Amino acid sequence: MAAIPQHIIDQIRESINILDVVQRYINLKKRGQNYIGLCPFHQEKTPSFSVHPGKQIFHCFGCGEGGNIFSFLMKYEKISFIDAVKRLAEEAGIALPTTTQDKRAQSENERLFRSNEIAGSFYHRQLSKLPERVQAYLAERNLLKETLSAFQIGFAPDSWDGLLKFINANKLPREPYQKLGLIMKSQREGRLYDRFRNRLMFPIHNASGKIVGFGGRSLTDDKNTPKYLNSPESAIYRKSRILYGLFQARDFIREQNSAIFVEGYMDFLQLFQAGIRNVVATSGTALTSEHANLIRRYAPEVILCYDSDSAGIKAAVRGGEILFQNRLDVRVLLLPPGEDPDSFVRNNGPEAFRSKLAAAEDYFAFRLNITRENFDLSRAEGRSEAVQNLLDMLVPLQDTIRSAYFLEKIALFLGVPVKVLTNLYQKKVR
Ligand code: GTP
Ligand code: MN
Repeated sequence: MAAIPQHIIDQIRESINILDVVQRYINLKKRGQNYIGLCPFHQEKTPSFSVHPGKQIFHCFGCGEGGNIFSFLMKYEKISFIDAVKRLAEEAGIALPTTTQDKRAQSENERLFRSNEIAGSFYHRQLSKLPERVQAYLAERNLLKETLSAFQIGFAPDSWDGLLKFINANKLPREPYQKLGLIMKSQREGRLYDRFRNRLMFPIHNASGKIVGFGGRSLTDDKNTPKYLNSPESAIYRKSRILYGLFQARDFIREQNSAIFVEGYMDFLQLFQAGIRNVVATSGTALTSEHANLIRRYAPEVILCYDSDSAGIKAAVRGGEILFQNRLDVRVLLLPPGEDPDSFVRNNGPEAFRSKLAAAEDYFAFRLNITRENFDLSRAEGRSEAVQNLLDMLVPLQDTIRSAYFLEKIALFLGVPVKVLTNLYQKKVR
């Protein structure tokens, strides 16, 4: 097999938790942030072997062995690096380039990543020659220098061919930029033009730090331009698999064992800037079970922090249900009306936000309370609908112990005998 591209190796490492792998071979006990056990690489009676989930490495204080998930498997199974990568790739469901066709697709993807990278640097470089109104906007939104550089934030010039000219001047092939949706072709005349114009540009990274696309915030008050515009999906960008900011926030999410989900880029950046760093943004897309699987590699808990308007509550109900069904511990933090995480943390400071976080309501309790508002529980009809609605949420759990626990809670909440609920539930499961 040919050399495996680095981004595939990164992707595999990102996809699998070292803890899960090591625990298949060794009994580990939690000790603080780490897990310890008897070292498999030398004889010992007291555990000196430890796994750090935050850093995704292992280390033995007795014999000095250490490394990442690949080196663990190589040493334990006495296999080559390539074989370790193969096994873990299979486990993560990541295809390795084997056939010529696969290889072509891989190098095509590398080309797309590189083109996004070039476009990202182009937008970012514009910050050094910003029109005054854009400088004023950055100041007004309180985006600090460190934040602009840590997130490679940029500016798309107010022109139909800002990026296009740059591509032409540097004799870069246009085709990858078209595939990425950065350059578009007009329907009528077939002329090429920039998708992103006069926008603040947020590169969207995957979990290994490669740019998969961009979000652009409009800088005009023109009601006809959408406030946010995103790159379209492409061979390297699937919206259902990307969480904005995960690359920069993942270590903090691991450390805190918890991820805060916000909706907007600005919400994310203000929290991150204020020192609340275990956060990601869903960027207006509906949460999917792929998002749930992605975040579960980093933390067992998600705190949904959405606006408290009806759209925000709906998003929390729906998004929370997906996460809940995918075995995450979910809590919901609703901010005061009219505030989003961005404005809240700017107006009240990080400590106020932290106390809100500490008081975030358990999703199931939140869901029961919402039921009171969404259904007329004083009528038999309303109660019956509420029961159906809550049971439907439990069906995909496929976990009798967990569902029994929640059935008890529903029974108590609605004053319905738990036996009746259990029967109904079992019918639904079948
Ligand atoms: P500002 O603070 O006004 O910059 O926006 P926000 O971060 O508060 O965003 P808002 O709450 O309005 O929307 C949340 C997220 O939804 C944004 O970050 C975008 O990802 C997405 N979004 C908002 N408006 C649009 C839009 O017009 N089009 C698209 N595609 N997405 C949008
Ligand atoms: Mn906002």
